[in-house]
This record gives sequence, C-alpha cells and structure tokens, in this order.
Amino acid sequence: MYLTSEEEKAYDGEYGWAYQVSMKILVRLGDLFGATRLIPVESAHISGVSYKTLGDAPIDFLEALVSKGGKAQTLSTLNPSSFDPHYLVKSFPQNYRGKQLHIIDLYSKMGIDPTLTCTPYEIRKPQLDGHLAWAESSAVVYANSILGCWTNREGGPSALAAALIGKTPNSGVHQAENREANVLVKVEPHLQDETEFGALGIYTGKLLKDKIPFFKGLSNYTNEDLKQLSAGLGSSGMVSMFHYKELCNEKGLETVSVEMKTLKDAAEGLSTVSEAPDLIFIGCPHCSLNEIRGVAEALRGKKVKNGVELWVCASRYIKRKAENYVGIIERAGGHVLCDTCAIVTWVKNLGMDTMMTNSAKTAYYAPTLNEVDVTLAPLSKCIKTACGN
Ligand code: F3S
Repeated sequence: MYLTSEEEKAYDGEYGWAYQVSMKILVRLGDLFGATRLIPVESAHISGVSYKTLGDAPIDFLEALVSKGGKAQTLSTLNPSSFDPHYLVKSFPQNYRGKQLHIIDLYSKMGIDPTLTCTPYEIRKPQLDGHLAWAESSAVVYANSILGCWTNREGGPSALAAALIGKTPNSGVHQAENREANVLVKVEPHLQDETEFGALGIYTGKLLKDKIPFFKGLSNYTNEDLKQLSAGLGSSGMVSMFHYKELCNEKGLETVSVEMKTLKDAAEGLSTVSEAPDLIFIGCPHCSLNEIRGVAEALRGKKVKNGVELWVCASRYIKRKAENYVGIIERAGGHVLCDTCAIVTWVKNLGMDTMMTNSAKTAYYAPTLNEVDVTLAPLSKCIKTACGN
C-alpha cells in the first residue's frame, strides 16, 4: 500500500509508539483487503467499551496508548458502556464500576468523546458521502444505507487506530464499485411494525453473509424501521449496507423472495419464551426522539406493574432533548437509561431471567450474551405487558 512520507514516518515510529502501532494495524488491514492508500475519515466510532463484554483484556493496551501520548486526529465517539450513571451504577460491585470508569477515562484521555451511544448519528449527522471509520454494525449499516455515508464494518481496534491516525484504508465500501447491490430481495408482505423490519434483517443477514441487498417492496417505513432493519442485518451476517429506494438495473441479479410465512417464522424464531418477562427493554439501537415520544405516549395514564422493570435506552443527548417525555416515562415507573443497554450490562446479575423487547437484534443476542430468555414483541405489546392492561 502506498504511504505518504508523513504516513511512513508514523509507520517507522518517528511520532511515537501509539501512532506507529495504529499505523501498523491500518497498513495490515489495507494490505489484507487490497487497499492502495489511506484516506482521511470525517469521524471514527469505537466499540469495545463495556467492561461486561471486554473484561480486563484491552486495559493494558489502552493504558499504553495513553502513556505514549496517543490522541485522536479526527472526531471520535464511543459505543455504550456497562452501566448508566444513575440507576444501574448502584447495583454493581465497586471494582466493576472502577474498571468501567477507568476504560472510559482512558478513551477520554485520547481525546475520544465519551458519547457512550450506538447511535452517534443522532448527536451529529455525518455529511452525505463522508468517509467514516465506524465500528458498531447497526450504525455502519444505517450510515451507509440511510445517511449515504461510506464506512466499512470496523472492529474496535481498527476504529481506534483510524481515530488516532485520522485515516482508514481505501477498501471495501469506501470504493463506489463495491457499493452496488448484488442480490435482489423481494419483500412480498407489507411489514407491519418494527419487529418485522428487524426480523427481516436477521433473516436476510444470515442468508446473504456479506452481499449487498436491494430490498424491493418496502413501503410506509420510518427511519426507525430502517434502523431496526440495519441492526438485524448487522447482527446475523456481515452485510455492511443495503439499498431500498431504487435500483437502475435489476437484470441478472440473484433474486430471493421473502414471503409472509418466512417472515413470521423468522420473527417467531427469535422468541425463546412466552412467559411474563422480568425486564422490558426498548432502545436497541438507542432510541431516537420519535421513539421516546412513542414510549411516553403509549404509557400516558398508565403505571408499570410491580415486579417488572421497564428500561428505555437512549444517548444522553436524546434524553436531554426528550425531557418532557422522560418525565412521563419515569412517572409511570419506567427508567430512561443512557450510556448503556440491556445487552452490554449484567442483566442476569440483577436477577433477570426473561426479557421482552421490540428489537430483533436484542432478541438475537440476549439468549447467548446475557443467558436470558426473550420474547420479541412490538412496542404496543411491550407497554401493555409492562402495565398489565
Ligand atoms: Fe446499541 Fe446495545 Fe443494541 S449497543 S445496538 S442498544 S445491543
């Protein structure tokens, strides 16, 4: 891969170990994926923040980067951590809290904004056609497909390396010729709610691996529905983007049809239990303002029944903007949490064995990552279950 003289100096260690190791990661990946050069990125979004999912493994590496003076060279943000600062924080042992805060502090010392959200585009929308280096698959698929940005699916280390160098290898969907659809997915049923969009994502993600689908037949969708589709696709396969508006030429494309029965089976297959949940979780990916409003409207005049927890997860930014709706949710007995979600915290340690969610991504991951049983249900049913009426 071609390196400019500045990049070569970083590679050779002239700017210190933190930049050298970051450059080595990028060059290695660039060589692996056939990039000929590095390109600047408008922003980096880094996963690998939650102490629950990470454990102690990366702490030494992060400490070394900080001690050697590593600083982000582009706008950089962080994925969710293992607890929120008010509600869950009180429930975990001091050493978990200390380790988590230390990890966040190390990233902050490198100039990375501790946004602690998986929807960084809600805080600052990246530019159309902007090149990014984002980890967090749901945000990658959403950024490429809905926001018209260009980002590969980075892992935590490569997104961090891109943050420190301010560049990423010019490969994969950073190149226009790799962004074209190569499978036509005919969606025959009219999708009814967010769970069906998410289930469609999980089903097609498994089927397509890393191919780029054009979904034909989607109608009456909201951005939140497309966010669920993005999250589903990002979870079960290696898809980095999809098309859904128009396609110039469908001819010759491999075609897959998704019928009503397939979709129903996919959605039902994501539920592992039908009994009453201990936890009802809304906000995977983190809620938009519209979604928080939807929860508040559904809860108006109701109370969450005893013995059930209702969590609504969002970024701090959205929580602040949604102050009035947050008040309604909290007066009804729900909790609006920021900085975390039910997947990246220790729900099992809180005594929860069953969860209901409107997110197909959560339903897909929770039985293995959290060892809880799950029911996938749309928001209306989640709220009805939470309130018992
Ligand atoms: Fe975000 Fe947690 Fe879902 S990080 S995408 S809410 S699993």
